[in-house]
Amino acid sequence: MSEELIKNISDVFEEKFSRKPLIVLSPGRINLIGEHTDYNNGLVFPAAIDKYIVVALSKSDNDFSTVYSVDFEEYLKIDFNNLNKLHKGGWKNYVIGVVAGILETGKPLGNFDLIFGGDIPIGAGMSSSAALENGIVFGLNELFGLNLTPPEIMNISIDAEHNFAGTECGVMDQFSNLHGKEGNAILLDCSDLSYDYIPIIPEDYQFLLINTNVKRQLSNSPYNQRKKACKTGLETIRKQFPKVESLGKATATQLNSVKNKLSSEVYNRCMYVIEENERVKLSKEALQNNDWHRFGELLFASHRGLSELYEVSLPELDFLVGLAKEDPAVLGARMMGGGFGGCTINLIEKNSVNRFIEKVQEEYQLKFGLRPDFYEINITDGIKIYPGTQRKNIK
Ligand code: GLA
Repeated sequence: MSEELIKNISDVFEEKFSRKPLIVLSPGRINLIGEHTDYNNGLVFPAAIDKYIVVALSKSDNDFSTVYSVDFEEYLKIDFNNLNKLHKGGWKNYVIGVVAGILETGKPLGNFDLIFGGDIPIGAGMSSSAALENGIVFGLNELFGLNLTPPEIMNISIDAEHNFAGTECGVMDQFSNLHGKEGNAILLDCSDLSYDYIPIIPEDYQFLLINTNVKRQLSNSPYNQRKKACKTGLETIRKQFPKVESLGKATATQLNSVKNKLSSEVYNRCMYVIEENERVKLSKEALQNNDWHRFGELLFASHRGLSELYEVSLPELDFLVGLAKEDPAVLGARMMGGGFGGCTINLIEKNSVNRFIEKVQEEYQLKFGLRPDFYEINITDGIKIYPGTQRKNIK
């Protein structure tokens, strides 16, 4: 756990508000495989990781609420009666969005002081925004005893993302933040939110994330267009196969039988989703059999689909996966998250990590003039209140 980060956020809070805060640890996530399948009601395979947004908060005696971002060094003052008039943009959209969502439930939310900061890199495909949204809702839920259930917390965060940040995201990020479990990935069926924990204990291997440092913001990216293309493809499939409820339940044979009714672009998008969904099932099998090499091959195949059929990759991401492919110590790699920037996830032999990092650092910088960042992450528990700071302990 990032004790130093927690102490820093807690100290800043006490300095600003002269009280002891309730503290929430809200993790980022990786996704092993199953990209862009969540909003198609397919399968995803994420896990919470040991990178966090830390949220510190307490009740306020003012007739407004105050939010401060430690990393951006910016304040936001919130008057519940005038949410629409607030200046939005960047992180503020998420905060205003979740406050609006809680108020809409009619639960007794009072004014609060809140600060947050963290070590989840922003725009890197590790879900810093879901960690912030859930972190705030989870914290306010505890502070004011709102009795929101995990699905309610999740939906408030997702609505904020859709309606305030403008990204039509699926459920994966918010779900894995809430349900993460140390040493396990979550095999989640997004059609009904049923899930299994699959132990991920790669004794000889390490998950290594490499950040291209090409920043992306999904709300400005063609993310929403991809979702639209999937919808168009599904509607055409359903004309012939009305029982198919989502692309997550469609087969390649069904798609092929309507191929001549689809543009090649929509066909490719849909084929990617159908194949990726299949790869999630195969990955589960491989991991249950401890077959890390097979899982690695599926990662490379996933990247190919994301790059060539779904077209959400970038030259920087393709280059990093290319380096991984050339290296015998890397079992598999692919871009991770929404795409158009962010990280690759690599499965690599533990004793080759340093050597590989050095090589990538040099070659990537030479080619793109950018320094990549590296994160050796561990799979951890989902969101929680930092022990000893529960509501009963702070006031
Ligand atoms: C982003 C979205 C998720 C998911 C991924 C792609 O992280 O927030 O819902 O769609 O992209 O798999």
